Amino acid sequence: MTDVWNLYIAQDYLTPGARETVDLVRRHVPLDAGARVLEIAPGRGTTALTLADEYGCRVLGVDLHAFVNYAQRAAIKRGLGDRVSFVRGDGGQLPVRDAAFDAAICIGAPSIVGTERCLRAMHRALCPGGAIVVSDWTWTAADPPPEAVPPHVAGPFVTLDAYASAIRAAGFRIAHGEPLPQRVWDDYYAPLRGPIADQRAADPEGPVDPIEAEMRAYDAAGAAWWSYSAFVARKT
Ligand SMILES: C[S@@+](CC[C@H](N)C(=O)[O-])C[C@H]1O[C@@H](n2cnc3c(N)ncnc32)[C@H](O)[C@@H]1O
Repeated sequence: MTDVWNLYIAQDYLTPGARETVDLVRRHVPLDAGARVLEIAPGRGTTALTLADEYGCRVLGVDLHAFVNYAQRAAIKRGLGDRVSFVRGDGGQLPVRDAAFDAAICIGAPSIVGTERCLRAMHRALCPGGAIVVSDWTWTAADPPPEAVPPHVAGPFVTLDAYASAIRAAGFRIAHGEPLPQRVWDDYYAPLRGPIADQRAADPEGPVDPIEAEMRAYDAAGAAWWSYSAFVARKT
């Protein structure tokens, strides 16, 4: 791992616009101390801990990777260990009962889990009328030029409209869908630009990790083709 990669994964959020997406939860999903919230792919657990802290709700986070160990320690440290749990599991095959949750969140990760299977898993886990809030990388058109596509990204290049169709097809009614402000990409990369420049200066031919490759594509052409979209929807 390079220093830049380690710096990237140490950030509170690992996706553009995560704070803006959490604001959508605050604005559109009534949560209280009785609410049961599921978070798929919580990463470092920042969203789950923030919501449990603010609303007193219970949150279960399901992430495929060992982030869950870090997140569970963070929950205990903040005195939230009795209400927030993180388990290791696949967001497309949730280890939960049907209709066990009032709300389900997946920030920046449905397409990583597999959009359709992630949405269907959330649908199964929600009670009737339950809400989802999801955000994801979207594209301004489905056929971006090669220079706008980072090496680790294979497509499909899903537009906001196509994403909305996938949400509806999974059995939800969309209450709100918006492209987040384009600056969420700039904000996301900003803390990494200095360290990447330093790393390049120290080792011009050194390995290019995925986050640096992604930023190169963003700077080359991505700003015109990439967007980040967030949706609030209800189980029909
Ligand atoms: C880009 S990060 C987003 C993390 C977090 N939502 C955030 O906003 O900081 C993607 C997350 O998806 C998790 N992940 C990848 N595949 C998964 C799967 N099949 N099921 C559950 N989590 C998965 C990764 O471990 C990682 O925590």
